[in-house]
Amino acid sequence: MNDIEARLGLARNIAVEAGKIAQRHRQQGLTIDQKAEADFVTDADLAVEKFLVERIQRSFPDDAIFAEETTKQVGDGGVWVLDPIDGTTNFSSGMDLWGISIGWMKGNRREFGVIFAPDRRELFWARRGFGAFLGDTPLNVTALARAPSTIVLGKAPSSPVDQYLGYIDQCYGAGLDYRRLGAATMCLTHVARGWSGAYLEGHVNSWDCAAGLVICEEAGCIISEETANMDLVRGGPVMVAHPEIYPLFQGR
Ligand code: IPD
Ligand code: CA
Ligand code: CA
Repeated sequence: MNDIEARLGLARNIAVEAGKIAQRHRQQGLTIDQKAEADFVTDADLAVEKFLVERIQRSFPDDAIFAEETTKQVGDGGVWVLDPIDGTTNFSSGMDLWGISIGWMKGNRREFGVIFAPDRRELFWARRGFGAFLGDTPLNVTALARAPSTIVLGKAPSSPVDQYLGYIDQCYGAGLDYRRLGAATMCLTHVARGWSGAYLEGHVNSWDCAAGLVICEEAGCIISEETANMDLVRGGPVMVAHPEIYPLFQGR
């Protein structure tokens, strides 16, 4: 087994274990703190991140870990990019639209990504050059009978309302409708599985999308250059789409 395959295997296992930890915390009653406007962290987010970091460091002590809540390492070698719970607001409200997100990058290359949606019992994963999968089922949006007629939009406090309203305008201008899911991982996997034709959000962090972008790319979606080159530390806008829908938003 090569190095990347071994890391991917670990990521798949710990994503599922992390899901159980999060669900157990929620069942016992969450402690919720507010970090900033519309930005929450629960004891489950912290417990999951601690678990993921410990398990990764035990197996790959020389890798860096860049995670949302506590650990911000960068380096020239491999970097694990982690969102312990993406969609914390959904999660703490009891909705099923949230996920554990584990990406691994070397330099600017996203090598693999794993997203586990515990309440849906869905494990998405992809390795660069080897395809994207939901469980054992390959994902390929170019094989759909027709491109989806809806897109998904995100809106975090860090991106301006006007820009978000602009996306809605473009969406209707393109003859499409839109949905809001409240979790970047779910938006990305909805595009990768062919349920949504595009995902646009004015600003996300690298931990929101490191895993999902490689899953989308391997499923045949198109990613804007700006999104593909997103800075690990600063994040940036996200725009990923089915190949037939991408031109409707390109350059706007
Ligand atoms: C957020 C969610 C939300 C998106 C934000 C993210 P969090 O992640 O994915 O949908 O709009 O950009 O920060 O805080 O729940 O991990
Ligand atoms: Ca997130
Ligand atoms: Ca999070």
